Amino acid sequence: METLAASRVRQETAEDFLPLQGTDYVEFYVGNAKQAAHFYKTAFGFQSVAYAGPETGVKDRASYVVRQNKLTFMFTTPLRAGNPIADHIYKHGDGVKNLSLRVDDATSAWEETTKRGARSFMQPLKMQDEFGEVVMSGIHTYGDTVHLFIERKNYTGPFMPGFREWKSTYNPTETGLLYVDHCVGNVGWNQMNPWVKFYEEVMGFRNILSFDDEDISTEYSALMSKVMSSGNGFVKFPINEPAEGKKKSQVEEYLDFYDGEGVQHVALATNDIVKTVRDLMSRGVEFLKVPSSYYDDLLDRVGKIEEDLEPLKELGILVDRDDEGYLLQLFTKPVEDRPTLFFEIIQRKGAKSFGKGNFKALFEAIEREQEARGNL
Ligand code: FE2
Repeated sequence: METLAASRVRQETAEDFLPLQGTDYVEFYVGNAKQAAHFYKTAFGFQSVAYAGPETGVKDRASYVVRQNKLTFMFTTPLRAGNPIADHIYKHGDGVKNLSLRVDDATSAWEETTKRGARSFMQPLKMQDEFGEVVMSGIHTYGDTVHLFIERKNYTGPFMPGFREWKSTYNPTETGLLYVDHCVGNVGWNQMNPWVKFYEEVMGFRNILSFDDEDISTEYSALMSKVMSSGNGFVKFPINEPAEGKKKSQVEEYLDFYDGEGVQHVALATNDIVKTVRDLMSRGVEFLKVPSSYYDDLLDRVGKIEEDLEPLKELGILVDRDDEGYLLQLFTKPVEDRPTLFFEIIQRKGAKSFGKGNFKALFEAIEREQEARGNL
């Protein structure tokens, strides 16, 4: 057994070699970046930030950057067939390619992770323009997904070199989304623990929570999950793998349609979930619905909450409590035609967990959707 001193040394080194300041941006490879950016502005309330493409000297792709508070999304599309971006979209459909992490030193982040076994995606690259410099580097993670390390402390421009400011006359109001709370990856059978080990050994993360198939199974759909957290807790990556159930696991459905491992959902934080969800719904965002019986004994299960029950019930917002407080959450339906990527809207009121008490109601709702698709 590990001594306390050894454990302390391990934790300290774990926290030191890859200090992360949070998520820098999430990049999606999509079939049509111009239209995707329009959808996220219209439906989710993102604002135009920057653009890169042939007009800025980038010949093979177009990228649109949108932002809401600390939440930055990039939509990238290839301009021709026969390249890694086009191949990615052909195989996976629209999805998350890159979970970028903000660092103080992108060169050190690359060196420290690759020397611990990460596969390099991009060697440290310094890019400069009249606003200063950005250094980026990158490593592969599960499936075709990558992490880019972004060092932008010496940069004052709208996004990064290669991009120009994107001014738009179309600026829908924001919906109160604040930052990325966590990003969940779906990996294949027996692959959860190898990826847990990857995040521990290569990136210095810790496993802060685990769910087995006893926790997360309904009559049919089962999965296992472990939550990985960076040393400072700013970055959290739960990892799911399918588990045996009576019928097909929701994670297996994802793996079939994404044709491999990838990002299942990105959780977006808000300080007023009732207002945010009402706003998103009015703009056409579709959410999973639990039966209204969920609310019959809700307060018995979670105790006193500050919110009125009626709007939560009307909007289908879920509540769960842990030792430290409670959280409110709600999940969108997949945001593309393949049953792959979706979003979670989350408001934390002290709770640092992930809504384990909602898994059953939620997964039954997911199964109803799976069944409607003929994939259960
Ligand atoms: Fe989540």
